[in-house]
Amino acid sequence: MSDLSLAPAAVQPPNDAAAAVPRHVAVVMDGNGRWAKSRYMPRYFGHKAGVDALVRVINTFADRGVEYLTVFAFSSENWKRPADEVSGLMGLVLVSVSKYLTKLAGDGVRIRIVGDREAVSEKLRKAWDHAEEITKHNTRINLSVAFNYGGRWDVMQACRQALAEGLAPEQLDEAWLSSRMAMAFAPDPDLFIRTGGEMRISNFLLWQTAYSELFFTECLWPDFGLAEMDAAFAAYARRDRRFGTLRSSSSSAEGS
Ligand code: FPP
Repeated sequence: MSDLSLAPAAVQPPNDAAAAVPRHVAVVMDGNGRWAKSRYMPRYFGHKAGVDALVRVINTFADRGVEYLTVFAFSSENWKRPADEVSGLMGLVLVSVSKYLTKLAGDGVRIRIVGDREAVSEKLRKAWDHAEEITKHNTRINLSVAFNYGGRWDVMQACRQALAEGLAPEQLDEAWLSSRMAMAFAPDPDLFIRTGGEMRISNFLLWQTAYSELFFTECLWPDFGLAEMDAAFAAYARRDRRFGTLRSSSSSAEGS
């Protein structure tokens, strides 16, 4: 497991403010294919295990006090994967909605889908609409599934709205753009987790992760559980979030 914090846990104790639980956790669920391959199984098997892992951990995130969990399920670039994997993932989503929706709804999970819905099938769009509709009054945790999503697409579509609305250049500011982006309903992610060993953002929430704390782990997504969550939260608690200022998130004194 790799953690980008500069000092090991043993020599850098948590501070009070940073020890707070992240309100919003964003996750790149990487490693499903390798997980399946190591078991001599097709990649689909890994993605299926990935959905099961997600359903397993949602309640624990909620119990820890996380209010928003946003997962990268299908990127704008994933269309370039072999056709059978793409159709497998589309089918898996439909199967997963019918398999788990009642449970998630009963567990108080509010589901939202973020991304470009134009390119997905009508059947899938209807399944998303249904999942959003029947969970819309839930408040325990907000699960956002980024599907056919890309950070660059998100910035682009918000800019297009500005143009379409005839906004003057001086009217366009960060707050306006944020209000038109796919995650406008949520605070920016505090903690960004990527499993599977790669250390990159891969066009996930580019705008929103400007000041997110990054946590990378070798753990393959289907194996993600309590131990990895604890490791991610412990790393987060050791970070000193300054948001570009000199002010430490753990102190009221400038420059400390
Ligand atoms: C990355 O692993 C994972 C994906 C591209 C898909 C993740 C999707 C799911 C877990 C299903 C989501 C569905 C719902 C309903 C939330 P990889 O295939 O790149 O793995 P590898 O790096 O080992 O090849």
